[in-house]
Amino acid sequence: MINYYARVKDALGYGSKYYNGYLIKYFDNLFSNLEKNIITPDSAKLKVRDLFKSDKNLKYQFLNLLREKKAHLNIIGSKLRPFHRIRIGIINLDMNKYEPIHYHDGFISFQIVLSGKCLLHEFDKTEIFADKIQYTSYKEQILYADDVMLNCSKYRDIHGFGAIDEPVSILSIGKYYGIFGKFKFSRLKLMKNNRDYLDIDKQKSVGNTINESPLIDENLAYRKYSKIL
Ligand SMILES: [Fe+2]
Repeated sequence: MINYYARVKDALGYGSKYYNGYLIKYFDNLFSNLEKNIITPDSAKLKVRDLFKSDKNLKYQFLNLLREKKAHLNIIGSKLRPFHRIRIGIINLDMNKYEPIHYHDGFISFQIVLSGKCLLHEFDKTEIFADKIQYTSYKEQILYADDVMLNCSKYRDIHGFGAIDEPVSILSIGKYYGIFGKFKFSRLKLMKNNRDYLDIDKQKSVGNTINESPLIDENLAYRKYSKIL
């Protein structure tokens, strides 16, 4: 256990190596290339998938670390800069649990399935209003170990995902913008990097391929949508 923990710490760069972890460096670089359009979102996803497929050790280190980290979200590393923050965490979903469909901007995030069978719904926001959101939808997907999700302002910035048949563990590597990566100006007010949840049952079509859903309070979203039936 200590050995795995030491290796993960090395990858993320805790302690004296805090700012030099190779995994943080790898993603820092990839995030920059995405921002500059040097790499497309689809190629970036393939690159990350290949990294985890080719380096089985990397995945097993996180999976072993997981045995001790059972909370819904475990933050295992982060790198803070004045205007952004890179955060690495592990999300655990019990069988048939679903993260209700939500929108968030001000960040780029890769999510790598470490284990389990993950149901995924993705959308591209076209417009957001105070009480509703409009978007285009993609076909429902099922992801397995090593499969990768990517979410950023120009690619699948609305999503919902869950665990079917078995629990799911997901490694989440995100870059958050704003002052210390915590706050940003959004819709003319200073807000935390929060999610906007969709009341997807009330979805209606508003044009060719565009649908619209009202926004819903977080607690209500979990009450209504956090279970796969
Ligand atoms: Fe999300």
